[in-house]
Parts: sequence; C-alpha cells; structure tokens
Amino acid sequence: MPKTTTKTTTKMTTKTTTTIPADLDRWLTANDKSGMSDLFEFLRIPSVSARSEHDADTARAAAWLKAALTKIGFTTKVWQTRGHPVVVGEWRKAPPGAPTVLIYGHYDVQPPEPLDLWTSPPFEPAIRDGKLFARGSVDDKGQLWVHVMALAAHLGARGTLPVNVIVLAEGEEEVGSQNLAPFIEQHARKLACDYVVISDSTMFAPGIPSILSSLRGLAYFEIKVKGPSGDLHSGMYGGAVVNPAMALARILATLHDRNGRVALRGFYDRVRPFPAAVLKGMRKLPHSDVRFKKEVGVRALGGEAGKTTLEKLWTRPTCEVNGMLSGYTGEGAKTVLPSVAMAKVSFRLVPDQDPEVIERLLRSHLDTVVPPGVTATLHPMHGGRPWRADLDGPLYTAARVALKAAFGRDPVIVGEGGSIPVVGDFERILKAPVLLVGFGLPGENAHAPDEWISVQNVRLGTRAMAMLYDCLRDPA
Ligand code: BES
Ligand code: MN
Ligand code: MN
Repeated sequence: MPKTTTKTTTKMTTKTTTTIPADLDRWLTANDKSGMSDLFEFLRIPSVSARSEHDADTARAAAWLKAALTKIGFTTKVWQTRGHPVVVGEWRKAPPGAPTVLIYGHYDVQPPEPLDLWTSPPFEPAIRDGKLFARGSVDDKGQLWVHVMALAAHLGARGTLPVNVIVLAEGEEEVGSQNLAPFIEQHARKLACDYVVISDSTMFAPGIPSILSSLRGLAYFEIKVKGPSGDLHSGMYGGAVVNPAMALARILATLHDRNGRVALRGFYDRVRPFPAAVLKGMRKLPHSDVRFKKEVGVRALGGEAGKTTLEKLWTRPTCEVNGMLSGYTGEGAKTVLPSVAMAKVSFRLVPDQDPEVIERLLRSHLDTVVPPGVTATLHPMHGGRPWRADLDGPLYTAARVALKAAFGRDPVIVGEGGSIPVVGDFERILKAPVLLVGFGLPGENAHAPDEWISVQNVRLGTRAMAMLYDCLRDPA
C-alpha cells in the first residue's frame, strides 16, 4: 500500500511526467540499431510450435530468449513442460513496496506456409517501407521484444527498475497453450504479481494507441464422417451409397440459421451483453465497411443480421469452418466416392460462454443432423475462455498516460475477435488484472504470408512500455 500521510494531491495532479523520460528515450535511441539486430536474430529462429520437425528450433528460441534476458540483468530459467518450454525471467530488486509486474508473451510462431506467397523468406527478416517482414514479427516475437527493450532501457540507463518484473514467455500459444495454465497453477507463488501486461494484439489504426477491452474464447473441433469401409467407384456405387463428403456438407450447413446465427440449441444462453458504455465507444470508432471490404478483398459482408461489423467481430460468438478434406483433390479428375470426410470447425466465444458446454451442445446437435448411412465422430482439439477487461484501476491509468506520452494521443478502447487462451487463467489463478496493449496494425498479416510489424510502432511501443513502469511506481 502506498503511504497516504502526505497525500494532499487532487486527482488532477500527477507525479508522472507526460513525456517519455529523457534518459530512457536517449538510451533507446542510442541502442536502436543493436536492439533491431537482436530482434532479427530472434526472428531467424523458425520456432514453429505446431511442427515436431521444428522442436529443436523452438527449444533454441527459448534458449535465445533466456540468454537475452540474462544479458540485460535478469535471473532466468527455461522450464520444461510436456510440450514446449516456458521461459521465466525475474528482476526483483525494486524498492520495498514497489508492485510486481508480470509480462507475458509467446516465442512460438505459426507455420509459414504457403512459402511461395512470401515476398522475402519468412525466417529472413527484411525491412521494406518501414515494415519489418518475418514470421513472428508481429505475432508475437516483435511485441515481446518491445518489452525486453523497455526493460533493457531502465537497466541500461539507470541500472535499476522502478518495479519488480517477471517475464513469462511460452512456446505453445499458437497450438492452444495446453500446458501453461497447469504451469501457472504449479508456480503460482513464484508468479504472484500485482499486474499482468501483454502485447500480442493490434492497434485500431496507425497512430491510434489502443487498449483491449475483450478477447473472444475458442472451442475447436475436428468432425470426421465415415461412410463405406473403403473408397468406391462413383459410377458403380454412387446413387445408392451415401457420400460422406455430401453428408459432411449437409451437416456443416446446419450450423447456422438463415440469419447468420449459430444454430446449436442453447448456444446464446450464456451470452452476457457488453456494457452499454463499451458498445457506445465502439460505435464512435472510425470504422468503414467500404474500407474493410477492400482490405479483405470481398464485395459483400456476411454474419449475423442486424449487427455492425465491429459488433460482429468483437462482441458476438461465431462458428467457422477452418478446413475440409475429402476424396480426390489432386490434379485432373478421379471418379471416386470417398469413404471419409473431415472438417475442422471452431467457435469463437464471448463471456460467459464455456468451451466445455459448447462441446456438449455440438454433440447433441450432431446427433440430430447426421444422415443415416454415415457416422460422425467429434474430436475436441483445444479451447479457451473468453475474457473481458475491467477498464479501471492504476494499471489502466498508467497505460493511458504512457501510451499518450509515446503516441501523442489518448488511446482508444477496442475489442478483439481473436483469442489468447491464457488471459483468463492469469486473472483466475494469480488474481491480478491483465492489460492488453498491442502494437500490431490492421493488415499486418498475422498467421499469413508477408507478416510484418511497423518499425515505428516497435520504437513507440518500446518507449510507452518503458514509461509504463515509472507510471506504475507513481500512480497518477
Ligand atoms: N496474438 C494472437 C491473438 C490475437 C490476434 C489477439 C489479434 C489480438 C489481436 C494469438 O497468437 C493467436 O493467434 N491466437 C489464436 C488462438 C490459439 C488457440 C491458436 C487465435 O486467435 O486463433
Ligand atoms: Mn499471438
Ligand atoms: Mn497467433
């Protein structure tokens, strides 16, 4: 608790400056080049968590990060899990009474394919037009690096930090973070903190710093439809034997109703409306459907009737087919009646939907829609709970001040359609509020070819995050 005896200040007076502290700014400018070249090194490691042939690379990225944190003065350890390792760095020499901040990020990346669509190779970082291109540049190595540089600035310029810091970086975010919640439970005492800060998201638009107010949750499944015991000649058998590919198409077509709503019975039962103030703020954001359509390359938009695009993306649950496989997909034509068909189907969830409940609803739905002549089996892949921020308190005040100082304007509050499964776990297990402040930009191609991060955002983000620690020591 801060001392209150001499606290005669009003709300308007703030102990924190409204510009980036000059010593930190100078240090970051002087170390910009070496910082960038370190980030290039990090990005060159193909830490693709989904591919076992990259397991050694993923381990190498963990070791690299450990070394980088050690170099700036942190005590570090790589913890093995059942999957990819967790890197923990600690610096706990702040003055007594100072808060402890936990910074979370992920050093694993998505597979880079299709390779031929990259302008320069995914693991050979290149800067063009102020954009740093590489797999993991924005998601999430570049954003994690923002924090490492912010910490380095304090330790480099002042030899100390105003707060205690724990850096926790995992290598399994892109494959569902299955081992992280158990890790946090197991090490809850060591990871105890006052605040959690995460940069693994995007800003609303260039130059507009953004604080995230919500993330959607996820429930991911594989649906397998089986028909005849083997592939059949489609002329000799077609017409009499139920075709699993057609059956799957029919099943998938029942997942939505004609108004674009998800058709599982009870799917919306637990949906809690967003606070009116957040919805109102959302409506004020300068969004344009025309621009949005152009950006994604479509002529018309879909989804739930009667909702705005931002509402659909940020506040509503959805169901998507992520992949389908059946029959002959090679060159030319082959007359075959396939024996199996498979689809990957995922649901994005909003508070208070629960991935386990969604699995039950999907199972009972399938029971009613699978046609005779085939069987369908459901395999749950992974899930994560949705999250909504409580936008008050010293953490959010500090973030507003620091972002304004770095970017020259007040941050906006945005929602997010993507998921970071572990965010809810942090709040549940560590009982600390989470701040999500991202430095990506729309169109940055996360998970796609030509992923990039704005070099300017790396610079400004680093300054904002460096200043955040000063603000947290001296809450406004
Ligand atoms: N960083 C993203 C999530 C994200 C994207 C948050 C954009 C905010 C803005 C994260 O790495 C991610 O891709 N998450 C996955 C979930 C995971 C279980 C595979 C997702 O959202 O699909
Ligand atoms: Mn990410
Ligand atoms: Mn991702």
